[in-house]
Amino acid sequence: MPPQSATPPRHIAIVMDGNGRWAKARHRPRSFGHNAGRKAVREVVEGCLRQGVRTLTLFAFSSENWQRPQEEVGALMELFMRALDKEVEELHDQGVRLRFVGDLGAFDTPLHKRMLAAMTRTAGNDKLHLNIAVNYGGRWDIVQAARKVAEAVVRGELHINDIHEQQLDQGMCLAELPPLDLFIRTGGESRVSNFLLWQLAYAELYFTETLWPDFDQASLQHAIEDYARRERRYGRVSEQVNQTRSTPG
Ligand code: FPP
Repeated sequence: MPPQSATPPRHIAIVMDGNGRWAKARHRPRSFGHNAGRKAVREVVEGCLRQGVRTLTLFAFSSENWQRPQEEVGALMELFMRALDKEVEELHDQGVRLRFVGDLGAFDTPLHKRMLAAMTRTAGNDKLHLNIAVNYGGRWDIVQAARKVAEAVVRGELHINDIHEQQLDQGMCLAELPPLDLFIRTGGESRVSNFLLWQLAYAELYFTETLWPDFDQASLQHAIEDYARRERRYGRVSEQVNQTRSTPG
C-alpha cells in the first residue's frame, strides 16, 4: 500500500467500538470480539508507521467501562495483560513509545506494574507515540489538570490572573504531544463518549460503520484521505485559509 502524498495527520485518536457486535454476529462471546480487536490495534499501528502518523491515541477502557459485566471486565484485563506480555518487545523494536494514560492506580498491581514497565522500556522511542487510554475519561482529564493549576496557585507559584488555556493544557494527559488532528470512531455511533474532550476542540471527526475488528490498514488510509480533503479553518473564512496557504514563507 503506497504512503499518502499529502501531510498525514500528526495525531489520530480512535474510539474502537463494535467488538461486541462483531462477536455477536459470529455467535461468540464478547471477549472473542475484544480479542479480534487486539489484532486491529496491530493493523492500525502498522498503518500509522507506514503512513508517517507520529501519534496514535486509542480508547481501550473508559472510566465507565468498569460497569460492564464482571466477566467482560475480567476478560479485558486478561487481554491487556497478554497483549503487554506479547507485544511490548515488538513495539519497542519498531521504535514505538508506549504510554498508558488515565487513572492507572485503579488497576490490579500486576497489570499496573506491567504498564509502568512497558512505558519505561519504550521511553526512548520516537517513531510512533502510542497512547493507550485506560480508566480514562475526558472530564477526569480536565479535572486533574485543573487540580494541578489550583495546587500551583495554593503554593504561590501562579497568580489567578495568569490562568489561561495554556496552563490547563500543560496539565492534560497528552500535554507534550502534537494537537489532535483526526478523531475516528468505528462501530456506527456518532458520539464522543467522554474521550479527549479538551483535545477535540479543533479535531476533524470521522465516523464509520465498520466494526473495530474489521478496521484495517485500508480503512485507516480511507480515513486519512477523507481528512486530507477537509478544510481546517480554525474559525477563519475559506479565503483567509487559502491566502495563508499561497503566501510564501
Ligand atoms: C468497545 O466495543 C471496545 C472496548 C470497550 C474495548 C476495546 C479493547 C480492545 C480493542 C482490545 C485491544 C486493546 C489493546 C490496547 C490491546 P464494544 O464492546 O462496546 O462493542 P459493541 O458496541 O459492539 O458492544
